[in-house]
Amino acid sequence: MTRAEILDLLAVADPSALYARADQIRRENVGDAVHLRGLIEFSNICGRDCLYCGLRRSNRKVDRYCMGIDEICAAACNAASLGYKSVVLQSGENERYPTENICSLVRRIKQDLKLAVTLSIGEKTREEYAALRAAGADRYLLRFETSSEMLFGGLKPDSSYEQRMRCLAWLRELGFQVGSGIMVGLPGQTIEMIADDILLMEKLDLDMIGIGPFIPNPQTPLEGAVGGTLDLTLRTLAVIRIVTKNAHLPATTAMGSIDPIGRQKALQCGANVLMPNVTPTQYRSSYQLYPGKICIEDKPGDCFLCVSGMLKMLGRTIARDPGHSLKL
Ligand code: SAM
Ligand code: SF4
Ligand code: FES
Repeated sequence: MTRAEILDLLAVADPSALYARADQIRRENVGDAVHLRGLIEFSNICGRDCLYCGLRRSNRKVDRYCMGIDEICAAACNAASLGYKSVVLQSGENERYPTENICSLVRRIKQDLKLAVTLSIGEKTREEYAALRAAGADRYLLRFETSSEMLFGGLKPDSSYEQRMRCLAWLRELGFQVGSGIMVGLPGQTIEMIADDILLMEKLDLDMIGIGPFIPNPQTPLEGAVGGTLDLTLRTLAVIRIVTKNAHLPATTAMGSIDPIGRQKALQCGANVLMPNVTPTQYRSSYQLYPGKICIEDKPGDCFLCVSGMLKMLGRTIARDPGHSLKL
């Protein structure tokens, strides 16, 4: 699809035909089964200062925590017993977990629980990524957030667009299934930038693409900003499905946080993955990237029942396999 065609679709007056086409392409290419990944938010300590994020180091109002390795393993074990075939380990970027410790955690989860493991722990050196891959990590999520170098520079002061791209290239070279994505509605982001984001996703040939609306956090410098809308997020998701065909696309927590049926809507216009929270309830209120985050009071079993019911209502099934990339 050309940039002009993408722009036309993103701005179409009535998106219902776009959604129907994305839903059809999703059905033909990835089927009706939805892959569940249990999300473990194992630490909210972060050394970076991204302007949009509630976990940024300058936010003094956060009660910081870091789960122990045994505790993370227990959360993964709980996920396995609920029936999950894969877990996502996510955190802020910090030195509390030497790479060797994450490696042994990955080995334990792989060997003892036979789960597919996705890491979402930010920018590392090539050597660190190589060690994590050698330990058995299957996948890595690292959103590029925006393809506008200018916007990226203003929002992520301790990183650079160039470094983010380098990390994504390393992850690919090392054989990870690579996930990336963006926030929709970032301050200063234009629809043309979103079209460029989609073209970049296509070029990177991503295995997974996670997008969500930007939700302004009152504890960050972007507190007064206007957030992203579900409407534009769904349009973006639908176009991504049409362009990428068989990438794994989650209906994300942020979509469910700005609209009570945001994830359901996403599953009907291209999404085929859900990432229910399996973090122990006591930590959830401290992992608030943005206000209004769903599932803060719930237990892992509650979220599992909730998404199971959601899928049943939508006439979709739960996938029984780990949901590896369909591009392999
Ligand atoms: N620290 C790692 C990183 O930045 O890649 C992983 C964790 S980070 C919290 C995961 C994602 O949260 C980011 O990639 C970003 O897109 C999203 N995020 C952060 N703040 C957000 C906000 N205010 N609204 C929506 N999404 C947000
Ligand atoms: Fe840290 Fe990630 Fe939040 Fe940036 S987005 S402050 S790196 S947790
Ligand atoms: Fe957590 Fe619905 S997914 S309560």
